Amino acid sequence: MFRRRRQSIQYKTPEQIAKMRAAGLVVAEVHQAMRDNAKPGVSTAELDRVAEEVIRSCGAVPSFKGYDIGFGPYPASICSSVNEQVVHAIPSEKAVLAEGDMVSVDVGAILDGWHGDAAITIEIGQVAPELTALREACEASMWAGIRAAATAKRLGGISNAVERAVEAAGDYGIVTGFGGHGIGTEMHQDPHILNYGPANDGPKLRAGMALAIEPMITLGAPDTAELDDAWTIVTDDGSVAAHTEHTIALCGDGVWVLTAPDGGVEQLGELAASVARDQ
Ligand code: MF3
Ligand code: CO
Repeated sequence: MFRRRRQSIQYKTPEQIAKMRAAGLVVAEVHQAMRDNAKPGVSTAELDRVAEEVIRSCGAVPSFKGYDIGFGPYPASICSSVNEQVVHAIPSEKAVLAEGDMVSVDVGAILDGWHGDAAITIEIGQVAPELTALREACEASMWAGIRAAATAKRLGGISNAVERAVEAAGDYGIVTGFGGHGIGTEMHQDPHILNYGPANDGPKLRAGMALAIEPMITLGAPDTAELDDAWTIVTDDGSVAAHTEHTIALCGDGVWVLTAPDGGVEQLGELAASVARDQ
C-alpha cells in the first residue's frame, strides 16, 4: 500500500474526549438545523449561513472555513454535495434544492481547540425509492464500521465492516479516493481509514483513539472526478452519491459517538461506552 510511513496517532485522555464531545454536540446541532432548513427552494448558500450562525452561537469556529490543502482556502462552513456531487461541494446561491434531490451536508466545528466532523445525507421532499435505499445503505455501512470499532482488533476491521455492509445492501459503488481519518486537535490526523480492505490490516485499535468514519457510496460506478473549482468531487458517471460521517472515540469499554445527540446508544446498545450510556 501507498501509506507505509509510520503512523502518528494522537491518543486522547478521557478529559480530552469529553472536550471533543462538546465539539461533537455543536456539529449535531448544526445537522438538526440542516434537516429543518433543507427544503425545496432553499439554496445551499442559505444552508451555509444557517450552519455558520449555529456554530458561532455555540461559541465554536467553523473548521472548514479557510481550510487549505494547497489550492487556496475553502470558502464556507459546510460542504453541500447535491445528487452526483460526492463530497466537498462549495455552497452556492445558484445551487437551489429541488424536490427529489439528495444533499449531503458535511460540517466541522472547533470548540476549545478540539474538533468535531460529521456528515448527513438529506432527502429533499419525496425522492426516488432507490435514493432512499442508497442513503440507508450508506448509513448502515457507517454504523457497521462504528460497531467494528468497538469489537475489531485492528483499524482494518472498520474498513472491512464498512465494505461488507455496503455489499450486503446492494450493488453500490464504494468511492475509493477518500476515506475517514483520525481527528482531535486537527480535523485530519492519522490514521487514514479506507472504506474497504482486509480486516487484519492497519494499526491496533486502542482506547483514546478518535476517528471520523465516513463512507461515500454511489448508485453507479465508484469513479470520481474533481471540478474546476478544485474542491467539488462528482461521480464520473453522473450517478447519485451519498455520504455519512460520525466522529467517534474509543473509550476502553465501548465507543462514544461524539457527533450523535444520544452518543450512539440507540444504535450500539451494549457496544456504547458507559460514559455514553450514563448521559
Ligand atoms: N469533513 C471533510 C472530510 O473529512 C472535510 C471537508 S474539507 C473542507 O473530508 F475543505 F471543507 F474543509
Ligand atoms: Co471527515
